[in-house]
Amino acid sequence: MIALVSVRWLLIAAAVLLGGLLGLSDGRGSKSRFTNMECISYNESFAVFTKCKLNLLGRGRTGAQMYLKLFQLPVKNCWINWSIYRRYNGFRPFLYNVSTNFCQLLENSNVLSFQGLVINAIMTRSNLNHTCPYTHDIILDNLEFKDDFLKNLPLPQGNYKVELRFATDKIWRVQVSVFFEREEL
Ligand SMILES: *[C@@H]1O[C@H](CO)[C@@H](O)[C@H](O)[C@H]1NC(C)=O
Ligand SMILES: *[C@@H]1O[C@H](CO)[C@@H](O)[C@H](O)[C@H]1NC(C)=O
Ligand SMILES: *[C@@H]1O[C@H](CO)[C@@H](O)[C@H](O)[C@H]1NC(C)=O
Ligand SMILES: *[C@@H]1O[C@H](CO)[C@@H](O)[C@H](O)[C@H]1NC(C)=O
Repeated sequence: MIALVSVRWLLIAAAVLLGGLLGLSDGRGSKSRFTNMECISYNESFAVFTKCKLNLLGRGRTGAQMYLKLFQLPVKNCWINWSIYRRYNGFRPFLYNVSTNFCQLLENSNVLSFQGLVINAIMTRSNLNHTCPYTHDIILDNLEFKDDFLKNLPLPQGNYKVELRFATDKIWRVQVSVFFEREEL
């Protein structure tokens, strides 16, 4: 009986230890985080960023915060151009360079695709969490970069820049760049 109890405790201790090492417990072991953020409006009669910054959330965690005021509502169609750069003597194109119909992606986001992962992550902290059209300003509220966003992607550690450009009615309107650092544990 005593032997059985101690084996069980040993297993629990091992699980806790492993969980901690792998950063599974509560994200405390995670080193990936946003390191910078930039927002550009190409036409301030169409849209203005009143907020675009990273907040320090403690323990090396950062949250991306953004407020985009839109002056031409509703937004009925939207395209994104994605490109990802990895830093290596300056930022070099790395992964992606495609355009996507954002409204379609929202209606049918495949969680196994890279875009699906990003969109679903954004949804958790944003009022973009419904399908088109949009009839309101766009808010991103302390979105954290979490390792599980990328759990299905073999992204090597390093510094990255993700540049997202958004178009409506076939005109590029705004650009949002986020920089993140990925560290393996
Ligand atoms: C900026 O946007 C406004 C409102 O949509 C439009 O009337 C104007 O032509 C745009 N300016 C440029 C330079 O595209
Ligand atoms: C993206 O693709 C276009 C056309 O395929 C190409 O001209 C452009 O240089 C590419 N940009 C990057 C950053 O790879
Ligand atoms: C994405 O934007 C880049 C940079 O402006 C451009 O060269 C490229 O053609 C765009 N890609 C697509 C697929 O439209
Ligand atoms: C979107 O997020 C807001 C704020 O978190 C929430 O109140 C709303 O119910 C969400 N909508 C959907 C469709 O999930």
